[in-house]
Amino acid sequence: MQADADQLAQRIGVPLEAFPGEKRVATVPEVVEKLVKLGFKVSVQAGAGEGANFSDESYRAAGADIVSSAAALWSGADLVFKVRPPSPEEVALMREGSALIGFVWPAQHPELMQQLAAKKATVLAIDCLPRTLSRAQKMDALTSTAGVSGYRAVIEAANAFGRFFNGQITAAGKVPPARVFIAGAGVAGLAAIGTAASLGAIVRANDTRAEVADQVVSLGGEFVKVDFEEEGSGGGGYAKVMSEGFQAAQRAMYAQQAREVDIIITTALIPGKPAPKLITAEMVQSMKPGSVIVDMAAEQGGNCELTEPGQAVVKHGVTIIGYTDLPSRLAKQSSTLYATNLLRLTEELCKTKDGVIHVNMEDDAIRGLTVVKDGAITWPAPPLKPAVVPAAKPVAAAVVDKKTGHGHGSSAPMPAKTLALVFAVAALGLWFIGAFAPAAFLGHLTVFVLACFIGYMVVWNVTPALHTPLMSVTNAISSIIAIGALVQIAPPEAGAGGRPDELIRWLAFAGIVLTAVNMFGGFAVTRRMLAMFRK
Ligand code: NAI
Repeated sequence: MQADADQLAQRIGVPLEAFPGEKRVATVPEVVEKLVKLGFKVSVQAGAGEGANFSDESYRAAGADIVSSAAALWSGADLVFKVRPPSPEEVALMREGSALIGFVWPAQHPELMQQLAAKKATVLAIDCLPRTLSRAQKMDALTSTAGVSGYRAVIEAANAFGRFFNGQITAAGKVPPARVFIAGAGVAGLAAIGTAASLGAIVRANDTRAEVADQVVSLGGEFVKVDFEEEGSGGGGYAKVMSEGFQAAQRAMYAQQAREVDIIITTALIPGKPAPKLITAEMVQSMKPGSVIVDMAAEQGGNCELTEPGQAVVKHGVTIIGYTDLPSRLAKQSSTLYATNLLRLTEELCKTKDGVIHVNMEDDAIRGLTVVKDGAITWPAPPLKPAVVPAAKPVAAAVVDKKTGHGHGSSAPMPAKTLALVFAVAALGLWFIGAFAPAAFLGHLTVFVLACFIGYMVVWNVTPALHTPLMSVTNAISSIIAIGALVQIAPPEAGAGGRPDELIRWLAFAGIVLTAVNMFGGFAVTRRMLAMFRK
């Protein structure tokens, strides 16, 4: 049996990244161990981890085989893990019918897609992950890479800047803190804000999506608004191209910032469009000598007019850094995070833990990632079904769900006949209760129904991300039980003493203790959860 399982187990191949200067590697020794536990065999090309400080020996110790050449690695692998999109030479080495996971950027590489299809490959492009699915966050390599880049951008700026970031009062004089302006507060921008603020700089930021203002503040920055009302959200958490009027107002604000700050870090991107030009040559000229601009959008054309992609240049006394390899400049960190993202994806692909991947096209996350399936191009994936919408008629929706077997969000209306039947049964039930139940019961039932209705409205109208704090707070409120227990714990009335009352008092005491745990625990959990949102 064991021998059979071993024979079936697929081999994951991790080549040395061939792109010039790329230091990252698609897996790290710590993750190799976990892949082996999932049942896979792992081969790593000799020297693949060197740029990220992982020796061949450390991979071998983790359970990988070291393969000497790229040709041997690609031809022996059932599944290849890569960072950069493969070159035509690499695709040529690929075994027909094998699988590939890595960055592919299908929109920018139509020829590569054709080559991969011709190889009858199955390709999962990590850049095509539907990021808004909360379940997909653990696999979101775009986010982990952008986080590393944002951090590194600040470090590059600090390296090129001739002063401290934090303000200091020393015997040799007073040093003002550096002023940093961040254009675009997405994942990379927020990481840059946090890093610059933690180094002690005064940080300001702007984004066309107003919803990020709170996040900027929570990371220690100040959100600078453009004096023009226009919503910048283009859907899915991404930006859109703004109107001429907005752009003019934004230019005026950026020109003022450029005169005031020492460092500008730009991260503004719009999916499928060239990066918006936010920093003009005149703005660069207006900056103080010795200032620094880090243009993180350099690869997509740059946010600054004077950026030279891949280079650090000095223009008008300002250092303009347009490096396009920021994640590779922190290779160990990026590789470790990326390897973990791929491990999480592999776990999703191999739920049976038998070392064989199953590409389930019914799964939204996997469907989004799969750009080529057995040689057929499956990109772009159909748009995600809209998230669960609050059902207008919850009772009706629940009945339909049961019937069709479809889970949440089914909006098919209940047939009129069934609806009439439900109403008739409910009315009969209510009449029965009204006619025969004691009056007190009717009162309690009314309160109960109203409480259910209010509870439903409260929970369903709150953003799912805030459900845990909400639940803990309602938990605490539900501790109204404490009042009942306090009434019961009061000493028995004169003459009515005896054992039963004592028992009730002890029960009430236990009720108070448990409720106190619920109450204070609820508030404590809420505090912790909300603190996580604050920072
Ligand atoms: P990105 O790299 O495409 O863009 C970077 C930032 O530039 C964005 O915040 C965008 O609004 C901003 N921008 C674009 N044009 C601009 C302009 N003219 N002026 C100023 N700023 C401009 O976006 P990224 O960082 O990959 O993701 C953006 C957002 O998507 C995140 O902040 C997050 O809210 C959301 N997201 C949500 C996820 C989820 O729901 N699980 C996962 C990942 C991202």
